[in-house]
Amino acid sequence: MPRKVILDCDPGHDDAVAILLAYGNPEVELLAITTVAGNQTLDRTTLNARRVCTVAGIRDVPVAAGCDRPLLRELITAAHVHGESGLDGPSWPEPDVPLADVHAVDLIIDLLLASDREVTLLPTGPLTNIALAVRREPRIVSRVQEVVLMGGSATRGNQTPAAEFNVLVDPEAAAIVFEAGWPLTMVGLDLTRQARVTPEVLNRLLRLGSPLSRVVVQMLEAYRDHHRRQSVDPPGLHPGIWPGELEREPPLHDPCAVARVIEPTCVECVEAFVAVETQGRWTSGMTVTDFRPSPGRPFNARVATRLDVDRFWDLVVSAVERVGLDAARSGGSTA
Ligand code: RIB
Ligand code: CA
Repeated sequence: MPRKVILDCDPGHDDAVAILLAYGNPEVELLAITTVAGNQTLDRTTLNARRVCTVAGIRDVPVAAGCDRPLLRELITAAHVHGESGLDGPSWPEPDVPLADVHAVDLIIDLLLASDREVTLLPTGPLTNIALAVRREPRIVSRVQEVVLMGGSATRGNQTPAAEFNVLVDPEAAAIVFEAGWPLTMVGLDLTRQARVTPEVLNRLLRLGSPLSRVVVQMLEAYRDHHRRQSVDPPGLHPGIWPGELEREPPLHDPCAVARVIEPTCVECVEAFVAVETQGRWTSGMTVTDFRPSPGRPFNARVATRLDVDRFWDLVVSAVERVGLDAARSGGSTA
């Protein structure tokens, strides 16, 4: 029985591949794609979600826009990673996938309350929509099978030494999500840094030979080039200290969370206590992670630690192949 999933995202190159992986794997029934401000402004992340659905021929999944800013803070975006468009690389066609006439938070709540089975929430952007949904309708906590989110880090951040981007954009929202009491898996940088877009991966995608796979390669080459432009590994650091955030091949973060939903054995996890720092001048957005049990402070998260890298890329490539073949049949329109 496929798992019902709502993907809340901020496309973003890795979000785009997460959409294709979620839609292209039979273990997932994608109920909705909801968008949030993060990698770029909401209008751009939403346009990008519709662009991806257009070229992939995804026309049976509602796309709904959510929050255009964090709960309290000013929005920060990531043009240095994803470009001004938020999805640099391909020349995208005009999207022909409509935008649902409902706010993402309302759609998330409605789908959760209406579902006859528990639903998995799969956030791959800042957690603003998810936090507002649980604040507006606390009953959804019992309707959620699990929250599997891409975000956080048990070690170093990527936007600051302490904080990973998704959590840093809206730490207050992240704190609400981590404290809600639902089953939660944190697929953070410690895991996603293992998912590097290598030349071998790009060649495997290119060999698929479909219009969609060519678009995916164009996306990932642009993503890699942005990554390399900001790379400056500090000299003399032991590799064990500096997590290789600025290695030449970029990490593809968001599909790792989808892979955890599809095939849990592909993403090993360890129970932990995770708290989100919201007050620190230098540490706001840090996901303070303690793997040690402590009386009176129960573990509240599974933290992803080890990726089966070969299996992960097999899942990604086969999903792009499957969606690409279907798109060719159903008229997915590439530029
Ligand atoms: O830190 C990486 C995360 O931030 C990814 O989800 C990326 O898409 C950005 O949203
Ligand atoms: Ca993202």
